[in-house]
Amino acid sequence: MKTSNKMNRRRFLHTSSALGVGLTFGLQNIHGSIAQNNKKAAILGGPKAFNATWPGWPIVGRAEEDELLKVLKSGQWCRLGSKTVPRYEREFEKITSAKFALATSSGSTALTSMLGALDIGPGDEVIIPPYTFIATYNVITQNYALPIFVDVDIESFQIDASKIEDAITTSTKVMMPVHIGGSPFDVDAVLDIAKKHNIPMIEDACQAHLAEWKGKCVGNFGLGGAFSMQASKNLNSGEGGTIITNDEDFYNKCYGFHHQGQNTDSASLEPGSGIRGSNLRLTEFQAAILLAQMTRLEEQVKRRSENADYLTQLFNEIDGITPAKLYDGTTRSAYHLYMFRYDEKMFSDMSRSKFIKALNAEGIPCYGGYTSLSKNPYVRNLAKNKHYLNVYGEKTMNDWLERNECPQNDKLTQEAVWFGQTMLLGTKRNMEQIAEAVKKISRDSKAISML
Ligand SMILES: Cc1ncc(COP(=O)(O)O)c(C=O)c1O
Repeated sequence: MKTSNKMNRRRFLHTSSALGVGLTFGLQNIHGSIAQNNKKAAILGGPKAFNATWPGWPIVGRAEEDELLKVLKSGQWCRLGSKTVPRYEREFEKITSAKFALATSSGSTALTSMLGALDIGPGDEVIIPPYTFIATYNVITQNYALPIFVDVDIESFQIDASKIEDAITTSTKVMMPVHIGGSPFDVDAVLDIAKKHNIPMIEDACQAHLAEWKGKCVGNFGLGGAFSMQASKNLNSGEGGTIITNDEDFYNKCYGFHHQGQNTDSASLEPGSGIRGSNLRLTEFQAAILLAQMTRLEEQVKRRSENADYLTQLFNEIDGITPAKLYDGTTRSAYHLYMFRYDEKMFSDMSRSKFIKALNAEGIPCYGGYTSLSKNPYVRNLAKNKHYLNVYGEKTMNDWLERNECPQNDKLTQEAVWFGQTMLLGTKRNMEQIAEAVKKISRDSKAISML
């Protein structure tokens, strides 16, 4: 797609000022784009399709300094009896339209607190997708419960809801699907099954800040939803997490679990509460950073979404590149990742790793993403873990290895390619540069394959 330089510059100045991206960055982009017409792929010695710097992360300004200094000077650095974490929680409730938000020390501990509130333990099975970060799996094994993988829908990269019922047994205590990449899984389909079998659903929305299903923020559909505020995430305080829920009883249980089993800020043990727990609290400093980061969140979500839609439009014109499908109910993806499948047959049998190398040479950072969890030795070794053998026995654990086979996921992990969320904070022109790079590689694929 061709656009005039004048147009590019106007568009860049408009978008860069909205995000506070430097002017030098934009001008370099403009020159980078002029240089591209009919040039060789960079891996073959041609010029890079993108010869500048992608937006950095995190984006920091005066708001972070002001909020942090307030906490520093207040001398109140812990949430108990203090006000910054609660202020952040009320803001998070507002932007997600949830009744309750609870800040936790990480996305993992947000999930752990929800599993704790549901009293998940040895003997229980938890349904998850295999295309996810290992934390989704680890929070289950921490409780000596059994993670049960349900294969993915390769088109969307999300859990295949049509396969969930086959995985349900009398031991299934909760479903924990993941909005992977920040795009909603098929919420209606999963909820129908959860309701039919009377099994609670909790959402791993760790990558999906402000993603929406039918106009409502994800995390609101299950009993609760967990978000991560770890450094790479679209809302970031280095480490951090948040639970949202619309169920007061569940909120109180989660609060108790994240605060040593106590359901108030009091440090004294309440007799007979029966809740397990630990210290999984967020600090006042992290809440201060989150409050500042949140002032830019909506604008960033919009920017990522617009750029991702445009990139999908451009990629749809390239044979062998298939962007992850969004389900019909998706009214907004958070695009923590831009994910697509690469078909090497359409690129002269060039391997995915060579394609990634060629794109990197063009100045376009990209990755192959997750490897297959069900084939991962770390995961498979669970079948030999002495505690698991004690609780479940050898036959159940061997069956578990078989139950967890996910052929579609194995295929997906061989074909997937990702761009990180910060690239989607670039300009519309940058999306064109990405597409131009892929087109160059496609055109020169025979020569690149022979390298
Ligand atoms: C899908 C998913 N679940 C859970 C987590 C865990 O979050 P945290 O790293 O904040 O513990 C992450 C973090 O990357 C994630 O991507």
